[in-house]
Amino acid sequence: MSYEHILVDRPADGVGRVQLNRPKALNALNSPLMDEVNDAMLAFNSDASIGAMILTGNEKAFAAGADIKEMDGKTQIDMLMTVSLVDRFDFKQLTKPVIAAVSGYALGGGCEIALACDMIVASETAVFGQPEINLGIIPGAGGTQRLTRAVGKALAMEIMLTDRRLGAEEALHYGLVNHVARLDEYMDVAISIARKVARRSQIAIRLTKEAVNKSYEMTLEEGLAYERRNFLLAFGSEDKVEGMRAFIEKRRAEWKNR
Ligand code: CAA
Repeated sequence: MSYEHILVDRPADGVGRVQLNRPKALNALNSPLMDEVNDAMLAFNSDASIGAMILTGNEKAFAAGADIKEMDGKTQIDMLMTVSLVDRFDFKQLTKPVIAAVSGYALGGGCEIALACDMIVASETAVFGQPEINLGIIPGAGGTQRLTRAVGKALAMEIMLTDRRLGAEEALHYGLVNHVARLDEYMDVAISIARKVARRSQIAIRLTKEAVNKSYEMTLEEGLAYERRNFLLAFGSEDKVEGMRAFIEKRRAEWKNR
């Protein structure tokens, strides 16, 4: 499939990158763009040579939110009858880790898709916020849930009720992002993390990602049982045999992803 609103490449071995590419609209997330993002990421997810993905924008904007011009003409029923925003912006079907590399604006839906990723690397110019309140609406792609879990209730309330924006250092301070790097370095940091993930056993990576994500949805007891199940699944893999053998024989493991 050729794409109109995104660019797709492989910046390093085992790493697939999707770049939002509507620069004139600050990467506002319209439906065709989101369909392309989902298509490209699902393609990487099912590509055995890819171990991790990066989702990024450009220097000025990761994404300035859902496309307000597209939503302007829509009624409640239109929105009800289309794929829900949460589903469209949700990467839960992706079993491989996704790193958001964020520079500039990550507002509204832009902040929400960054939050739907597994890790976030920010450039020092990144700005995170949920300004939906200014439009007379509320976050509709996971912000009230994921941002609250990420930064806690008090700050999440302030961000969503008063349009408080977080700069990169603040976002780091509050645990929203993994790393902040200079504008000319943040992509290299994201690629370096993605390469570290991609070098591992895809089975162990997948089972770990699943178990960590379950911690949002389960009680501690249920989560521990889920972890135990995935631990036992990992124990049945050829990669478990190889990983332990390689440690004992003091050599680098050669993962088969089996
Ligand atoms: N939707 C559609 N177009 C957008 C957009 C958006 N979310 N954000 C920016 N654009 C467009 C602008 O309309 C403008 O287009 P034109 O040149 O054709 O007028 C272009 O991008 C450049 O934008 P600005 O001139 O406004 O650039 P700026 O540097 O002065 O300001 C900004 C940047 C502060 C990000 C400002 O553009 C802005 O506030 N954007 C809207 C942010 C927002 O409210 N996001 C939430 C959207 S709702 C949502 O996301 C719902 C949800 O939960 C899924």
